[in-house]
Amino acid sequence: MTSAGLIRALCAAGTLILLASACAGGPKLPPPPPQSFDRAEVAQGFALAKLGDCQGCHTADGGVAYAGGLPLKTPFGTLYTTNITPDAQTGLGRYSKDAFVRAMRRGVRADGAHLYPAFPYDHFAYADDRDLSALYAFLMTRRPVARTAPANRLIPPANIRGVIAVWKALFFHPGPPAAPDPNDPRARGAYLVESLGHCGACHTPHNALGAEQTRQALDGGYQEGWYAPPLNALTPASVPWTPERLERYFKTGLDRDHAAAAGPMGTVIRELAKAPDADRRAMAVYLAELMKPSPAGRGQTALVDRAAAAASAHPQGASLYAGACASCHEPGAPMMLQGRPPLPLGTPLHEADPRDTIQIVLQGLQPPLGGAGPYMPAFGSSLTDAQVAEIAAYVRARYSDRPPWSNLTAAVAEARKQGAS
Ligand code: HEC
Ligand code: HEC
Ligand code: HEC
Repeated sequence: MTSAGLIRALCAAGTLILLASACAGGPKLPPPPPQSFDRAEVAQGFALAKLGDCQGCHTADGGVAYAGGLPLKTPFGTLYTTNITPDAQTGLGRYSKDAFVRAMRRGVRADGAHLYPAFPYDHFAYADDRDLSALYAFLMTRRPVARTAPANRLIPPANIRGVIAVWKALFFHPGPPAAPDPNDPRARGAYLVESLGHCGACHTPHNALGAEQTRQALDGGYQEGWYAPPLNALTPASVPWTPERLERYFKTGLDRDHAAAAGPMGTVIRELAKAPDADRRAMAVYLAELMKPSPAGRGQTALVDRAAAAASAHPQGASLYAGACASCHEPGAPMMLQGRPPLPLGTPLHEADPRDTIQIVLQGLQPPLGGAGPYMPAFGSSLTDAQVAEIAAYVRARYSDRPPWSNLTAAVAEARKQGAS
């Protein structure tokens, strides 16, 4: 957009801010008591909350579920998730069902203020009435917890809520809620990915103001210092993702032919694992179809091992790898014999951006469900930026037929900065 265009849009939105504050207040009906909700609806709401990762975002580390307080790092500073237990003063106690639906579809708080789009209402807006009603029933039957989120630390002008009206005027124009045929798994999968699953919040590229580039839906995006790779025909995966493989990955965070879910995806899976089988299956069917036209989907798997060439190009990386990585990752190592996928089967090494490989080396991998599972130590404190860069250059040259990554040392420094909490 030209700057004149931007200014015009901001002025138009200024009118909106006035209107919004003039209409503030919203529905005034008091919320119904917990015992008034239907049990089947509450159970349905639980399943939908798992698909939407409500708990993952609305729970502080070590805090009470749904009581909020998790810091979210955005390019505009730190924002804290709020308390969505039914507490009257600090949580959703003030939300009638209509007010809740308005928050989910329009990003407007019970008191009429705008909510930050880090709350992915640009996706939740597509959830249908029945699903939102079930989510409301589920949340309003949780145990109320009195807890207020810490104050946000956002840079001006993002610290002023009224500015969100400008953002909405520019970027938030949701279509009508989708109501898919319940007997068509592909349609159900598309609906869940787009609406409550909010996969695009990470897997779609964002513009400088944090809005999704919807015309490039699921083309791959950046979030929390990680790269969320494409989930469509652009996928750089070296082995095709089939519905069966995706389904297993959504349930366990693991697949024999792809790398374990890492970083933010590990967190997403922790909740997705508790969603209904049929819904995970539906998303798997839909996404496998989107990814099918990719090179791997067409049977062009390019798995290489150029150990000698890579070692002569990156001798320092090769010896660091031999010392720090080979005992687990080299073919024939005990971990490999236990059936963990060889390095080239993971998508990170084939991505255009090196940051997932870098973050995995810096942060390691915790068992995906907090219990038993593959573990990789974090090397962030034992290796320098230059050493991590050497290793990344070596494994890329050895295992991927794609062009070398450039500016790796700077990328490691950047990954450390963005990934630190
Ligand atoms: C990616 C993180 C994220 C996810 C996932 C998420 N939320 Fe939120 N949500 C937020 C943030 C951040 C806010 C506060 C925004 C603000 O203060 O403007 C919020 C606010 C809300 C509010 C308004 C409450 C208030 O008055 O502050 C409701 C209602 C809500 N979320 C419901 C849900 C539900 C239901 C789900 C799951 C379907 C969900 N959220 C998933 C980040 C998230
Ligand atoms: C908070 C950000 C975030 C959200 C939300 C998210 N993802 Fe991811 N996802 C990532 C990141 C980062 C990676 C890459 C790290 C890794 O490989 O584990 C990833 C990796 C994946 C992969 C593996 C791709 C490959 O080729 O290895 C799949 C499949 C996937 N996500 C599916 C989904 C689906 C389906 C949803 C919505 C239900 C979703 N993701 C929501 C961040 C996210
Ligand atoms: C103690 C064993 C261990 C060590 C040492 C180790 N890793 Fe890992 N690594 C793992 C495990 C386990 C996984 C997850 C495997 C899976 O997908 O199930 C993993 C996954 C990865 C992945 C993501 C998967 C992929 O194919 O892209 C990368 C990249 C990686 N490791 C690189 C390294 C590098 C580089 C080193 C040395 C600096 C290293 N690892 C050291 C155990 C280890």
